[in-house]
Amino acid sequence: MDYKQQIADLLTESTGLDRDRILELIEIPPQLDMGDYAFPCFTLAKTLRKAPPMIAGDIAGSINLDGTVFTAKNAGPYVNFYIDRSAYAVNVIDEVNKSGIVMDTAANSDKNVIVEYSSPNIAKPFHVGHAFTTVLGNSLARIYKKLGYNVIRMNHLGDYGTQFGKLITAYRLWGDEAALNEDPIKELLRIYVKFHQEEKNDPTLTDTARDNFRKLEEGSPDEVALWQKFRDMSLVVFNKLYERIGVEFDNYNGESFYSDKIPEIVDILNEKGLLVESKGAKVVMLDDEGLPPCIILKSDNTTIYASRDLASALYRYRTYHFDKNIYVVGNTQALHFKQVFSVLKKAGFDFADKCEHVAFGLVKFKDMVFSTREGNIVLLEDLLNESVSKTREIIANNAKERGQDMSEEEIDEIAEKLGVGAVIYTFVKSGRERDIVFSWKEMLDFEGDSAPYLIYTYARTRSILRKGEQQGKHPASGDSLKILTGDDEYAVIRAVADLKDAVVKAASSNEPFMIARQVALIARAYNRFYNNSSILNCDDDDLVCARLALCSSVCTAIREGLDLLGISCVERM
Ligand code: ARG
Repeated sequence: MDYKQQIADLLTESTGLDRDRILELIEIPPQLDMGDYAFPCFTLAKTLRKAPPMIAGDIAGSINLDGTVFTAKNAGPYVNFYIDRSAYAVNVIDEVNKSGIVMDTAANSDKNVIVEYSSPNIAKPFHVGHAFTTVLGNSLARIYKKLGYNVIRMNHLGDYGTQFGKLITAYRLWGDEAALNEDPIKELLRIYVKFHQEEKNDPTLTDTARDNFRKLEEGSPDEVALWQKFRDMSLVVFNKLYERIGVEFDNYNGESFYSDKIPEIVDILNEKGLLVESKGAKVVMLDDEGLPPCIILKSDNTTIYASRDLASALYRYRTYHFDKNIYVVGNTQALHFKQVFSVLKKAGFDFADKCEHVAFGLVKFKDMVFSTREGNIVLLEDLLNESVSKTREIIANNAKERGQDMSEEEIDEIAEKLGVGAVIYTFVKSGRERDIVFSWKEMLDFEGDSAPYLIYTYARTRSILRKGEQQGKHPASGDSLKILTGDDEYAVIRAVADLKDAVVKAASSNEPFMIARQVALIARAYNRFYNNSSILNCDDDDLVCARLALCSSVCTAIREGLDLLGISCVERM
């Protein structure tokens, strides 16, 4: 049950106002004595031609709260709603312990949402910037799925363009088959860099490369075969990384997939009189939007990044009739997407309004020194390895200090999950448009705002539940939960109940951090409760079992919340 929604229903009934507007207005007061939810009446003063305190008084006097967990009181211009803690405890904990975090999915089941994420350039190293889109997009896909949408997860691989003409040329001149089999990305990068060095002295290389890309785009078998080989080998490397961080896709239709769909785009733009010549290239002018021209075909008639995005948007609409088409791509490409969406709009495709660029900031490093293999870029694999090995050290030390006996394999397994989780959490713990700063100190702080802290809270609570079982004490349900009315208990229950609202908001703003923030809030509220009260050691068995039920609901909320972020828990550590 979503309590905010319920209050919105009650207020809609009693005021006759628009429900969405009411939902926006409902606040969560800063102090518990001011109620659990508050409805401010300022904005109604105009419509109703009454002073806000009078309106608040009228609403509090007339609203029908029979059969709900609320009482209402007016205070100045506000109507404050107070939750009956006993009924609330029963409702929230029972629902979570029986069914998990249940979202309202009915309205969404026939809606298609495309989430495009990751989309690395093949034959290039997978660096931390690609990790950002991969982690964000994976989380968004999970969030939309949780809300009942039909989600299509797309990896728009950068597997086309002039650089493949260069790679083909370079491989024929300097390629080393053995090295390619050993470490494909390393070898492809080596010859790519060499190409650019040699090109300075030998301009004919540029022409050969352009020619080879043209041949590739025309379907010439030798060029296609080499390109296919580079693509397949790169995907093997990428898929290993995806598997390690628990990321999947429904399709890998990269840029190459759209190459033969571009003539149609050109025809459409021509028909609408949108295509003009500029220095031999074909472009769409966008000055009326204050944007530079969008290049559709280059002077040698080959296609370009933007034209492939136009073709892909049209293909996606025809194939999926999407309600939303989300591009999780860094904010450095903001202009590109503005251009693409504008061209679609000009061409008369209304679905342009359903396309959204979900942008994110840069990735920076604070206290980290990497033995980077590839110049100054940081590879995701290196970041993960380092994070896991540092986490392993901490866990092994903790275990020694506590005199815990843990096998090496167990430590390895926990370190892998925590270390990977710590990296993922860093990407999703703040608003996505902010630059991220990685710092070992923060991301591996077992008491701070980190994945290890959340997972540790989960694992410790699971162990309390296991201990309870051993003592024959099982989580209570129903009316036995009514005794959970203390301030600390209530704060935990409240935090658990509010997770649903966080999921809804995370989707509407495409901001997974809203879930991260709520899970952190649950863990902090729970740890306060844990530090101030005993769970298994109270004299009153009924209280023990009620509190165990609370523990169980906390575990479910943390596990499901983290799962929506793409982070998995461990059962003990
Ligand atoms: N491959 C591009 C890169 O690595 C990102 C592709 C973004 N997606 C798109 N539909 N343009 O920079």
